[in-house]
Amino acid sequence: MSAPTLPQPSAAQVEARVDTLLGRMRLAEKLGQMIMGERASTTPEDVRAYHLGAVLSGSGSVPGENRPADWVALNDALWVASTDEADGRTPVPLMYAVDAVHGHANVRGATIFPHQIGLGATRDPQLVARIARIVAREILATGLDWNFAPTLAVARHVYWGRTYESFSDDPSLVATFAEHFVHGIQGTLRDDGVLACAKHWIGDGATFQGIDQGDAQVTEAELQRTHLPPYLAALRANVQTVMVSFNSWNGTKCHAHPYLLTEVLKGRLGFSGLVVSDWDGVDQVAEGLDAAIVLSVNAGVDMIMCAADWRRRLDGLQRAVERGEIPLARIDDAVRRILRVKVRSGLVDRARPSARPWALSETFGSAAHRAVAREAARRSLVLLKHEGATLPLQRTQRIVVAGKHADDVSHQCGGFSAAWQGTHGNEAIEGGTSIWQAIRAIAPAATLSVDGSAADPAAHDVAVVVIGELPYAEGMGDIRPGGRITPPLPGGLRTANLEPYGSTLELATRHPEDLAVISALRAKGIPVVTVLLSGRPLLVDRELAASQAFVAAWLPGSEGAGITDVLFGDHDFEGTLPFPWPAAAPSPDGVAPARFPRGFGRTYR
Ligand code: BGC
Repeated sequence: MSAPTLPQPSAAQVEARVDTLLGRMRLAEKLGQMIMGERASTTPEDVRAYHLGAVLSGSGSVPGENRPADWVALNDALWVASTDEADGRTPVPLMYAVDAVHGHANVRGATIFPHQIGLGATRDPQLVARIARIVAREILATGLDWNFAPTLAVARHVYWGRTYESFSDDPSLVATFAEHFVHGIQGTLRDDGVLACAKHWIGDGATFQGIDQGDAQVTEAELQRTHLPPYLAALRANVQTVMVSFNSWNGTKCHAHPYLLTEVLKGRLGFSGLVVSDWDGVDQVAEGLDAAIVLSVNAGVDMIMCAADWRRRLDGLQRAVERGEIPLARIDDAVRRILRVKVRSGLVDRARPSARPWALSETFGSAAHRAVAREAARRSLVLLKHEGATLPLQRTQRIVVAGKHADDVSHQCGGFSAAWQGTHGNEAIEGGTSIWQAIRAIAPAATLSVDGSAADPAAHDVAVVVIGELPYAEGMGDIRPGGRITPPLPGGLRTANLEPYGSTLELATRHPEDLAVISALRAKGIPVVTVLLSGRPLLVDRELAASQAFVAAWLPGSEGAGITDVLFGDHDFEGTLPFPWPAAAPSPDGVAPARFPRGFGRTYR
């Protein structure tokens, strides 16, 4: 471990440095700073020629063989281009951003932690800080600068496909975790941290019917009471960047909302860092791209995140400035904020990525990091039902292990793992352990039979059945009772056109194969311990009734041994529900009778 080496500048020193840089920059250089290109469509030459301020990797977008060295080499080349001083160019290092929302999960061999809903179940902010610290270290090992995390959504409707990115539906819990997460990611904002990003401002978890990118039809008082507190906490923790949300607030897109972006966030709350748009989120606010850019930038977007064609956005920005539709003062303010973040975070003083203290650190994906992921998985488990003395399991028992998720590390990790929508099987997530692998390692008489057909009451004492949702991300995880791809939004608002996951929260309808396995085992007289992997609470009354023990494991990440640590009694259950568990389908505004209340969780005692 190396101590931070960069000195901490005072606020006055930061502003003086920003003034000097800004004073040197030509208009083209300023406009380039406001553009963030995606890795696949942005070369070092583009960065040099157009002065681009940042690059991102969308989830699943990876360089070379996807090893830490490939990432370091890529950001080295981009950094060299951005700091080129030839022809009077102002050297301003670019920032490289990723979605390390539950570990640096895009990169082969990274440690993958439970998704935020599971961390919410642990109720332990110190654990969240430790995890965020490790995530920052793994990002630094790959030479990158910026993490698009934490998600500060207070998810109020479990139909929403991003519910698992939400720590809880309790604003005060999300606020506490927000503060610890930001501290963990940013560290001292010198050599030992990366930039955090509070997202998605604001009301992403408040949309009508839980529709991703939908309309938050709530009063200002409700926005303030429920959805603002996590941001106040993140700002207190000195978060340097905020991402705008795709959603609208009462019919107006957040990306085109001067009140929310400029008046409230930058004005009243005094946020002095940068506001980045979401993935082509600017495009959604008007019919023509130029008009959309004018609306968003004037509303307060400082940096435009571009999925593919950053050049069109840069040209549009330039035309808008030439036509006087975006005042130069707004451009200067946006660039000042971007430069301020780069100066405050020490980026302007850092060596090239490959020469930074943590670059290629061997702690990436290390046993020590995995031990923390295992601890988090273990502590996130919530015991919903336990009959008789089925648990804890004994290592000598003849256990039949079944269910489609029993031997699948990718399914344990869910979305934003190796690929945007997640993936399948044990190959894509290197270094992890499936639940079956973890059981096999300690219970020599255990056997795997995914569909349960090999189960035999004469040969098996007990069954562990691992069931649940398949990986998904964002709108593709939505539950839409009408089953529509494009749900109607008031005022004809546009959203991404993503196919939802299903039309009901009832697991037995969406995944009847799970109940079939449990029922077949029960019919054979074998007691069943069910482990549910899911991004949210589901309607599981039938699976619950058929099981002797039932564990909500959320999306526990790469370390399956976190589950066996508890199933075999080396540790007790500690997790409690971060969301109420519904007993019936929720109303359009997310309200449902509770089968188990928030905070529920049984133990062995
Ligand atoms: C998501 C953001 C994410 C961005 C970049 C968007 O689709 O809404 O949460 O940070 O993509 O990958």
